[in-house]
Amino acid sequence: MSEIKTIGILTSGGDAPGMNAAIRSVTRAAIFNGLKVKGIYRGYRGLITNEIVDFHTENVSNIIQRGGTILKTARCKEFQTPEGRQLAYDVARSHGIDAIVVIGGDGSLTGARIFANEFDFPMIGLPGTIDNDLYGTDATIGYDTALNTIMECADKIRDTATSHERLFFIEVMGRDAGFLALNGAIAAGAEAAIIPEISTQVDQLADLIQNGFRKSKSSSIVLVAESPVTGGAMGLAQRVKNEYPGYDVRVSILGHLQRGGSPTAKDRILASRMGSAAIDAILDDQRNVMIGIKNDEITYVPFTKAIKNDKPINPELLATLRKLSI
Ligand code: F6P
Repeated sequence: MSEIKTIGILTSGGDAPGMNAAIRSVTRAAIFNGLKVKGIYRGYRGLITNEIVDFHTENVSNIIQRGGTILKTARCKEFQTPEGRQLAYDVARSHGIDAIVVIGGDGSLTGARIFANEFDFPMIGLPGTIDNDLYGTDATIGYDTALNTIMECADKIRDTATSHERLFFIEVMGRDAGFLALNGAIAAGAEAAIIPEISTQVDQLADLIQNGFRKSKSSSIVLVAESPVTGGAMGLAQRVKNEYPGYDVRVSILGHLQRGGSPTAKDRILASRMGSAAIDAILDDQRNVMIGIKNDEITYVPFTKAIKNDKPINPELLATLRKLSI
């Protein structure tokens, strides 16, 4: 039997649609199993500054459909110091918190791993980021909603692209990963995706112009992953203007609207399953793992594995995009 009686829950790093569904699931599954729940506001910062309240089932009513996070979120520099983490540990223990569920991305799970090792404290992670860049899970919470948002935006931009016969570069988020750009391009029927994962092998822009654009096409949409490696949409557009003056080029940077909105059914279900699995993991005395879902099965991924390994891009997706954009 697990010794854990009270769990804390927090969201950290960039918000992602579905975080609220995850908070609801963790809270309700914990209470269902006889555990007490404490909501920690503003991520690790709230753990240091003692922004912690008791959570009951009604605290998480009517939130499954809402974007953002009711617990608020932050990127906390102080938690990166041993002094900050000591404060956080003291506050957690003063509330009788025996384990913490962290919903966040790469940086948040790195913080969880360090904290867990330093204090021998059980931490369970849920992958909450639109970037889909965590190894060991097919999808992260928020990714599907962001992908749908990108698709809808690209559909709208296509109206202008075709009417004016223009080449549009649409920049999407993803930090260092190209999942949103690549799958967004397939979903929107775009001509190409410029992603950091393949730019070392070819000059993607030259490849795109020389092989990608057929003369029969008078307009084109290219999705570009934000990254110094790709040069971003602005950088690429400038290059096209300089090197291929015949094209009428425009840029659209989607920005933070990709992080907002009501989560899709897929994200709500993913978050609900992962939240419930986090409590199963705690009761099973698992610690320092991220919950993943691979091939529809719940998996426990050690933090080190989830963070350190680069999640590979499926080459079949690239090939599909190339084939379909002729
Ligand atoms: O990790 C999520 C994400 O939206 C990235 O795609 C992006 O690079 C970053 O966060 C932006 O962070 P911020 O909202 O702090 O500017």
